[in-house]
Amino acid sequence: MDVKQAKIRIEKLVEQINSFRFRYHVLDDPAVTDEIYDSLTRELIELETKYPQLKLKNSPTSRVGGIALDKFEKVEHKNRMLSLTDAFGFEELTAWEARIRKIIPNQPLDYYCELKFDGLAVSLRYVKGELAIAATRGDGFVGENVTANIRTIHSIPLELPEPNHLEVRGEVIMTKQVWAELNRQQAKEGKPPYVNTRNAAAGSIRQLDPKITASRKLQFYAYDVVTELGLKTHEQVHKQLRGLGFKVSETQKRARNLTEVLKFYEQVLKLRADLPFGIDGIVVSVNDLELLRRLGVVGKAPRGMIAFKFPPEKATTVVDDIIVQVGRTGKLTPIAVLRPVFVSGTTVSRATLHNEDEIRRLDVRIGDTVVLQRAGDVIPDIVEVLPKMRTGKETIFHMPKKCPICGSSVLRKEGMVDWVCSNKNCFAKQARGIRHLVSKGAFDMAGIGPKILNKFIETGLIKDGADLFGLQKEDIEILERFAEKSAENIIASIQGAKKITLPKFIYALGILHVGEETAFDLAQRFGSIERLGAASKDEINAIPNIGEVVADSVYEWFQSKRNQELIRKFLAVRVQIERVKVKTTPLTGKSIVVTGSLEFLSREEAKQAVREAGGNWSSSVSKNTDYVVVGENPGSKEEKAKKLGVKIINEKQFKALLNS
Ligand code: IVH
Repeated sequence: MDVKQAKIRIEKLVEQINSFRFRYHVLDDPAVTDEIYDSLTRELIELETKYPQLKLKNSPTSRVGGIALDKFEKVEHKNRMLSLTDAFGFEELTAWEARIRKIIPNQPLDYYCELKFDGLAVSLRYVKGELAIAATRGDGFVGENVTANIRTIHSIPLELPEPNHLEVRGEVIMTKQVWAELNRQQAKEGKPPYVNTRNAAAGSIRQLDPKITASRKLQFYAYDVVTELGLKTHEQVHKQLRGLGFKVSETQKRARNLTEVLKFYEQVLKLRADLPFGIDGIVVSVNDLELLRRLGVVGKAPRGMIAFKFPPEKATTVVDDIIVQVGRTGKLTPIAVLRPVFVSGTTVSRATLHNEDEIRRLDVRIGDTVVLQRAGDVIPDIVEVLPKMRTGKETIFHMPKKCPICGSSVLRKEGMVDWVCSNKNCFAKQARGIRHLVSKGAFDMAGIGPKILNKFIETGLIKDGADLFGLQKEDIEILERFAEKSAENIIASIQGAKKITLPKFIYALGILHVGEETAFDLAQRFGSIERLGAASKDEINAIPNIGEVVADSVYEWFQSKRNQELIRKFLAVRVQIERVKVKTTPLTGKSIVVTGSLEFLSREEAKQAVREAGGNWSSSVSKNTDYVVVGENPGSKEEKAKKLGVKIINEKQFKALLNS
């Protein structure tokens, strides 16, 4: 091959490599495999080595050719590099529009929406169609010359299709995948990880050795041209950039009003997790460039543009407590009870700590300030403790030796990370208890079925019935398969059940042997939950119809510390228990039997009246019976009463007793 042929070959190779580069790095649509690309590049390098005089200035092989620098030179920006004002939430966006409307009240407005890349802003100056200077923002007026590093980014054209002067702005980014790989490499080399893709991108651009930058596989997305091109809209600028060979995001939209902007924002928010790179919001611009210019600059930012930011996915908060939840399989999961904090669009008050090992790994203690992270729609995680925030009052958490639900012993099998409750029915018992609590005769919470309750228990949201009343919409919303609406309905149903009569409340507690009738009797006799709780076994036993077994069960229930705590919890979440006025009438505590039919009262009415007077309705006569009321055509009960010496009264006397 002579020089002339080599020259032609080199030109052809450069052209071909560049067009493959464009397909691969700009369009994300490779035309050939890496082998072919590499093979052509190798041939080009060989020819350029043999004929150095033929090497083109912007040869694709020149991207990593730069030598390491001592420091970056300063570059003055011809056009100031501005930044953006942030808007969090639709309200702030509306306020922004109002500010614009003050300056341009009447013109029709439309907006251009695009992704807000989480990377590093750079400005590319092309002189006569060649990339001459690439600079970081710096203070907006003077930045650093990072041209050699920027040249290593394959999605940036070193030459434009035409020899024009042009200044392009855009963002250098690193994909999440490259970032993860880089951090693995950093760890291997004992170097600290980059905390996010933006830091990694910035750190990679600020390397004095372009070879290191080249190894970081950075990308560049263009979003603006500061050179006057005679274009009318920001949308056209984007089209033009694409035409000039720059990588431009396809995710963009022209919006006719803020409602459409919001729609785009919400779509992007959903898309966010699936994007290969990080974004932290959308950028909204007044589309008309003439209006944008007229709106001017406020501080460091153009008035006609705004960054509509996503809610932060990380936040700090304090661990108020660590509680233990028992799952369906008996597995004990430690849960951090957090000082409520707004993260990623919702208020979070709990985070799972997974297991004992995780607690030790994080070294999280009760009272610690922690970093909470919520990615997408998953339950938040504590990712870090801030030990410098410690005061010395923090307490180390230990897994309980006994199951917090049933009191059975807990065990951790060798080689397993989890502690489990030794009682196989533990979760079932707890779930059954709460199911009973929401049922019809008790709190009667419509629409809250076993599935929902199980989910609440499994995710540690509730440990007992009282916890239901402390639930917030946001707690439920972040659970899988709970939409905002259904979360709202659940909360409404729970809150609507907060007022409860004393008998229903006693019944709801699920005390062994206490059905609706017994609950009613207990309520009538003691009038309040406090008095019932303080009652002696004998006092309970003295209630007609309540035998020793039931009395024992009730008494024991109220002696348990755990149950006392539960009652306190119900009162603390402001469950309103309507007391029962305990009337003391001559019938209070008396056992009454009615035989024959009464003139003024039906059987049911008589029963109700006896109960309301504090008496005890009974259907058979015994020596414990106090009165037998005799109506028309009495049966054998009258005989029996006479035999046992029980006092017999007629309807008139009965009514007198009821009314006195
Ligand atoms: S427009 C007027 N468009 O966000 C100056 N900026 O917070 C803004 N950014 O400094 C340029 N994506 O680094 C613009 N699509 C986008 C952007 C974007 C990310 C960055 C840029 C800017 C910062 C302001």
